[in-house]
Amino acid sequence: MKIIKTGSYEEMSRVTADIILAQVKQKPASVLGLATGSTPLGTYKAIIAAKADFSGITTVNLDEYYGLKPDDPQSYRYFMDENFFRHINIDKAKTHVPDGTAADPAAECARYEALIQALGGTDLQLLGMGHNGHIAFNEPADSFPAKTHHIYLDEQTIKANARFFANPNDMPKSALSMGIKTIMGARKILLAVSGADKAEILKTALYGAITPKVPASVLQLHHDCTVVTDCLD
Ligand code: F6R
Repeated sequence: MKIIKTGSYEEMSRVTADIILAQVKQKPASVLGLATGSTPLGTYKAIIAAKADFSGITTVNLDEYYGLKPDDPQSYRYFMDENFFRHINIDKAKTHVPDGTAADPAAECARYEALIQALGGTDLQLLGMGHNGHIAFNEPADSFPAKTHHIYLDEQTIKANARFFANPNDMPKSALSMGIKTIMGARKILLAVSGADKAEILKTALYGAITPKVPASVLQLHHDCTVVTDCLD
């Protein structure tokens, strides 16, 4: 694991953006795994400012709330379109997010997993981490969920994310999420973690036991994982 400590959120965003831009330059037909949330916003801004060529790039997002339509301002599809895709020259047909409106969530998860495999897997996967150590929506559990799956969210995650909803009760209670095996299949992983309130859980994930109780701890086993963070001294 490579750990890059930065002095600020801005520097963390620049460093992660540079790593993604280098991947795009080195392989213009890369498959990028992308994340939503507050952490990658600065990364996306820095990438947009670089005006790089994304015309050959395909993206697969980590997760989507179950029950939200793509044009719902709280959906992850909407987040990606607004904060990233509409500012770069990517072909929207090559941007993939699980379909939160699918009538059969299990079938949608199987379709999404098969899509990632059909694309040849992910070249670089960008990740954030929740306060409980979750990556994507793989919540602390007794075992690591393998593939893309339908998951009921933790109370802590519901609390953390409900702040984005005008009515916190509208926050979906479940999501479709890549599994740990899906994520670990990426050829490179880039974990961005920001904020003093995540310092303890990050240390536990990086230096503690590898356990599904701290899902991000599994990243210790990845052969090419870079952590960029402003929360370690
Ligand atoms: C988002 C995702 C989540 C977030 C995590 C951190 O697609 O999969 O795991 O990365 O909840 O969220 P922020 O960045 O808002 O602290």
